Amino acid sequence: MSDLLYSIKGFDHCELYVSNAKQTAHYYRTTMGFQPIAYRGLETGNRNCVSYVLNQDRVNLVITSPLEKNTKIGAHIDRHGDGIKDVAFTVDDAEVAWETSLDRGAKSVLDPKEIKDDDGEAVVSAIQTFGDTIHTFVERKNYKGSFLPGFESNDLGLKADPTGLVHIDHVVGNQPDGKMQSVCDFYEKVFGWHQFWSVDDKDINTEYSALRSIVMTNDNETVKMPINEPADGLKKSQIQEFIDYYETGGIQHLAFSTKDIISTVRMMCSSGVDFLHTPRKYYDSLNDRIGPIEENIETLAELGILVDVDENGYMLQIFTNPLQDRPTLFFEIIQRKGSKSFGKGNFKALFESIEREQEKRGNL
Ligand code: FE2
Repeated sequence: MSDLLYSIKGFDHCELYVSNAKQTAHYYRTTMGFQPIAYRGLETGNRNCVSYVLNQDRVNLVITSPLEKNTKIGAHIDRHGDGIKDVAFTVDDAEVAWETSLDRGAKSVLDPKEIKDDDGEAVVSAIQTFGDTIHTFVERKNYKGSFLPGFESNDLGLKADPTGLVHIDHVVGNQPDGKMQSVCDFYEKVFGWHQFWSVDDKDINTEYSALRSIVMTNDNETVKMPINEPADGLKKSQIQEFIDYYETGGIQHLAFSTKDIISTVRMMCSSGVDFLHTPRKYYDSLNDRIGPIEENIETLAELGILVDVDENGYMLQIFTNPLQDRPTLFFEIIQRKGSKSFGKGNFKALFESIEREQEKRGNL
């Protein structure tokens, strides 16, 4: 049996469970440039749920809603609000990945299943991870369709204007207090992943709140999953605010890479994406902290883009506000210029910015 370690090739897609998939898909298309590529629903013979597949370069998002009452999808939305159900991985062999995971203690949520249509075949299987989140293993066998068997290619007659997003850089899971380490142990035991980076509450704190984070990654470091938990502070950590509204551990943010963050953020701002505000004073000391960079600091300040540096280079990043009414899921846009890190130097500025929003929500 080949080892699961070598079988996870990368992020395949993320599936969101939302209350109105049609409008959510429209939002991600018009504000972030995700192109509808595939669909399944009543018109394709799918009677109980509807899914829109959105694509930009190597990023695929699946947006799903129930079409009837008393479904698992509906129960998930009732408990968690709109959020990410599935972080799916592309694998060489979905049966081996599933069997190996179960041997190593994971719980199955979908036995390996061959799915077929006129464009070819694929095998999918899935396991449980933290909270109600799952990992689907996707094995495509020379599948020629736009996504997976069962979905019809469909651009909905709508053209998106791409904003330059390239791939999923990392996917972050928030955990209740005291649960971070056991989730990281799960990834080490089940997938053979290792710790890539970590920060504790001494590194990341403001006057009010703190967090701990461990980044887990696979052997060739194509998949990175930071795992966070709240730490005690004078007031409520943003991680605890997430847990209060999501009710369990869950996906806090997806980070998308871009080759030109200034152009990406300009496009998204002009189409209405709501980014976290960065105070002007952050940029006053930027040059001293970061050293020379290619970008104009005034432009970064105007857009609120953060910068951090490590021994390999620097990176630019920005975070959206929550993408739904509950203060849970948000997106990050990141451009790496050598740096492999996760913006330790920015956490304080980021936290202070989030705390200002928490205060407005009455949750600090
Ligand atoms: Fe991130």
